[in-house]
Amino acid sequence: MKNFSYYAPTQVVFGADAEKKIPQLIQQYGGTKVLIHYGGKSAERSGLIASIEQSLTEAGIKHLKLGGVVPNPRLSKAQEGIDLCRREGVDFILAVGGGSVIDSSKCMALGIPYEGDVWDFYAGKAQAKACLPLAAVLTIPAAGSEMSGGSVITKDDGDLKWSYDDNLCRCKFAIMNPVRTYTLPPYQTACGVTDIMMHTMERYFSQEEMGITDALAIALLKAVRQFGPMVLENPEDYYLRSQIMWAGSLAHNDLTGCGTIGDWGTHNMEHELSALYGVAHGAGLAALWCHWATYVFDAGPARFARFAREVLDVVEDDDTQAALKGIQAMRKFYHSIGMPASIPELIGRKATDDELQLMAEKCSRGRTITNGNFKKLAYDDVLKIYTAANE
Ligand code: NZQ
Ligand code: ZN
Repeated sequence: MKNFSYYAPTQVVFGADAEKKIPQLIQQYGGTKVLIHYGGKSAERSGLIASIEQSLTEAGIKHLKLGGVVPNPRLSKAQEGIDLCRREGVDFILAVGGGSVIDSSKCMALGIPYEGDVWDFYAGKAQAKACLPLAAVLTIPAAGSEMSGGSVITKDDGDLKWSYDDNLCRCKFAIMNPVRTYTLPPYQTACGVTDIMMHTMERYFSQEEMGITDALAIALLKAVRQFGPMVLENPEDYYLRSQIMWAGSLAHNDLTGCGTIGDWGTHNMEHELSALYGVAHGAGLAALWCHWATYVFDAGPARFARFAREVLDVVEDDDTQAALKGIQAMRKFYHSIGMPASIPELIGRKATDDELQLMAEKCSRGRTITNGNFKKLAYDDVLKIYTAANE
């Protein structure tokens, strides 16, 4: 168990009437002029944007809005928002959407008080000293950005999808109304279930024994594995939607990571898939995980065997066999919820050799870094995993 510092300052307001608290919370956290930031059309179609605008107007809080954030959010949109907020004197950002909108908001919140190019943070050239306060109204449980310190942004030039982690940009509060997730299409729901499980798995697959942290991780994984398929069958079931929604935050607020640095190899490899093909992050993770697991499990079969037995109900005494059966069970699980388990299933064709090499090159930052910790993956390893996933 490694030393750790646990910090999860976001105030969570959870429930069917949670949105009523938005004006009061914005005032509590010092907002006087708010930018409502959102994505494509879902939050407008559902009436959520209009109802937030109305409640802010009634509370006398000045506000303006900026929509158009795409999944796998772009730096150019955040830069547009930075210019707008500076011009208008915005002092609080309200993200209404999922990981893409929240990450775009974090990027803007970091960029507004910064004199240089906000990409400096994502490129590892600078550390933020200030950040505008922001909050989230979550509409899709998946990325966990509402309670994480991270944001992932794609630079339009070169399709570089890079992340930046900083406690400064944690949301002040997160409004979570499970009813808002009823309109999610099955594919997005399944992508969310996949990402939520993966955030826990990235932390669980570590060479450390973590006792209570492991127990929490396994409980969370078992619950999501059980509730995920059920919510796909019953998309308007409040109880099931609420379980997935809360799991999404718990999976990425570091609770299941206390004592480990985690692995994160699958995530880093996935970011190249979503940067290149524009696919949904959760689906990209499902396309890679079994191939990553097959490649690395021999560095610690006992851990994979425990995952197989306790999360996936595999009955097998031998650790190596249990590990392999667990990987097969995950593949079956992904297919059962409509997720791909390979690159061709993800993008509808095989990736070309050039594309595989480009992704491996970008993922290992020009062969200068390794990825993952369960087993360190250099360029050649990453390329082998992409190649195996391309069969
Ligand atoms: O754009 P709209 O029309 O709103 O549609 C969205 C979008 O197309 C739709 N949607 C959202 N809520 C809906 C809805 N449709 C119907 N009803 C609703 N209630 O869902 C689509 C996907 O939204 P998006 O925000 O892209 O999904 P997600 O939350 O999975 O976020 C993905 C992004 O987060 C990053 C990913 O890499 C990706 O860029 N991540 C961020 C992390 C973080 N900041 O901590 C960690 C994650 O591992 C992840 O990397
Ligand atoms: Zn993720």
